[in-house]
Amino acid sequence: MATMGAMQAKDKEVFIVQGLAGEKSLSGTVHINGSKNAALPAFAAALLFKHPVRLSNIPTIEDIARVSELLEGIGATVEKGKKDEYTVTAPSDTKPELNKDISKRLRASVIFTGPLLARYGEVQFPHPGGCVIGPRPIDLFLSAYEAMGARSYLSGETYVLSAPEGLHGAEIFFKNQSVTATEALLMAAVLAEGTTTLHNVALEPEVTSVAEFLREGGACIEGIGSTTLTITGGGVLTKEKPHYHCIPDRIESGSFLILGALSAESLILHDMNPDHIRSLITLLQESGVDLEIEKNSLRVKNGRPSRSYRAVNVKTHEYPGFPTDLQAPLLTYLTQVSGESFIFETVFENRLNYTEDLIRMGANIKVFNPHQAIVTGPTPLKGRDLESPDIRAGLAFLIAAIVASGSSIVHNVYYIDRGYERIEERLGPLGVSIRREHLPT
Ligand code: EPZ
Repeated sequence: MATMGAMQAKDKEVFIVQGLAGEKSLSGTVHINGSKNAALPAFAAALLFKHPVRLSNIPTIEDIARVSELLEGIGATVEKGKKDEYTVTAPSDTKPELNKDISKRLRASVIFTGPLLARYGEVQFPHPGGCVIGPRPIDLFLSAYEAMGARSYLSGETYVLSAPEGLHGAEIFFKNQSVTATEALLMAAVLAEGTTTLHNVALEPEVTSVAEFLREGGACIEGIGSTTLTITGGGVLTKEKPHYHCIPDRIESGSFLILGALSAESLILHDMNPDHIRSLITLLQESGVDLEIEKNSLRVKNGRPSRSYRAVNVKTHEYPGFPTDLQAPLLTYLTQVSGESFIFETVFENRLNYTEDLIRMGANIKVFNPHQAIVTGPTPLKGRDLESPDIRAGLAFLIAAIVASGSSIVHNVYYIDRGYERIEERLGPLGVSIRREHLPT
């Protein structure tokens, strides 16, 4: 299958970056792409519609290629339109088995379980995998589907969920605020019989955006933007010509902003939403970074030596708190500023492992346990060979390589391509020396 071939070919690609040795010589403008984590549930949401769904502002990234293949695997049609557009048509009937190879490497595949179970009465899938950021349980999904009338069992490595009579409404309290569990259960509830109330739901902009799309499509959803969603289910959504326009990627915005603070005289981010990264903006301003904020754009200005910035403490938190997906880029930033910063990762169990590589580059980081670390800066970084452990740490390594002296080779490019569109072609014009190479076999 094309999927595994694409992943294996990427395994042999690397980025070679020539560092700026701490200079602030980058400048230019960057367009921020559509959000990966909003696009993924929007593709799944297409399964709730009778008519083809047009999706626009979709980034050209590996995760979108994988969900397109997942959908085709269950009989949906996915057409790539011009530029950043796709049209997805759900099958009228199917045997919904999620492709094992893809699901095991893509945690977001779990979002599809909600619409598939609700619309086709069953779904089979392996434990969804993905980035190496700690255990990724699916207990919230399974117990909620059971509360809505589904039966579930494990057959070997495959979860089998069925609801031949259809799902019914239920009162569900999520013990953790989970982004993908909220999205999957919201979609299941749209097709379920009766009323479902989801308590303690995630408030991330990606969740809100997809909920609004479903409501515009005819779903009856109350409480969007609050921690309780009430959904009155009905049949498949029959809106003609449904269209989802993807929101800007707040994690991409935040990563470019951090890069700009570290290495740009002036960097302008266009087509983004500053409101979605208020927690990062507040921390960077507290640290001394000079920002000009407009409605849909942001400028980092007056590049000066990073050591003139101050240390800040960071605790990751569900939205609107500081996002765990920006923890690695921000920690990289903190290696370059003056003083001691305390980092507390509260969302995932194993998301500080990448710090070993930053320490090998020269960073002064004391990791106390899998959740807590102290960074003391500034320390010059030296270019090294780096293995990206996940999408976000992969981008943090590119930032570290750009700040460092000498050259770095960043391996596991597949992870970076999963979340960021043609990153080298967007960094190059800013003044970054970066090229993609295929390692000989
Ligand atoms: C989403 O993952 C994002 N992925 C992640 O981005 C992001 O890091 C994460 O939310 C937190 O913001 C997508 O949107 C596709 P969670 P998700 O369920 O939904 C626990 C990236 O790089 N939990 O909100 O999988 C879980 O262990 C990725 O783009 C359970 O206990 O994360 C965690 O501690 C990485 N049981 C907490 O909830 C469950 O059944 C929050 O995770 C499900 C989750």
